[in-house]
Amino acid sequence: MTPPRTTSDEFPCERVPAMRNVMMPRDTNALGTIFGGVILSQIDLAAAVEAHKYWSGRLVTVAMDKIEFKHPVWVGDLVSCYTETTRIGRTSLTVKVDVWAERRFGREGEVHVTEASVTMVAVDDDFRPAPIPKPE
Ligand SMILES: CC(C)(COP(=O)(O)OP(=O)(O)OC[C@H]1O[C@@H](n2cnc3c(N)ncnc32)[C@H](O)[C@@H]1OP(=O)(O)O)[C@@H](O)C(=O)NCCC(=O)NCCS
Repeated sequence: MTPPRTTSDEFPCERVPAMRNVMMPRDTNALGTIFGGVILSQIDLAAAVEAHKYWSGRLVTVAMDKIEFKHPVWVGDLVSCYTETTRIGRTSLTVKVDVWAERRFGREGEVHVTEASVTMVAVDDDFRPAPIPKPE
């Protein structure tokens, strides 16, 4: 059964995330919050997990739209990336990724950290764009 769609302001508690990770001390920046690059890496991986539903071969990331971090992420937060394929082109597809952090260790609630639109290209063994089969 497909879980109900949610808006970006609504914690998607019934959806299965493409990626889920507990943030660790190794993920912090000099201020003690989670380094933005760690979240970007999660977004990239989550988009690839989603994109591989349509193409099992090599995928490369060609573009990510503007990303705004709306809340800090703390050590111990459970960070989940929820994905949805929003466009399938000839050789590329676009995945929307919503990132949520569930607070732990005395902080409570869930915050919508950011969202991103990631475009990935299917490539062949020579890293040239390859046509993605049309979904049934
Ligand atoms: C991705 C890559 C193979 C595309 O090569 P290219 O010669 O531009 O290929 P094309 O012009 O045929 O475009 C291929 C597809 O990518 C899309 N695309 C290309 N540049 C894009 C961009 N900046 N934003 C969104 N889509 C883009 C095209 O629209 C096309 O999609 P479609 O077939 O669904 O219409 C090439 O740019 C590349 O290898 N980039 C590096 C990728 C990488 O290494 N990423 C990891 C980060 S280092």
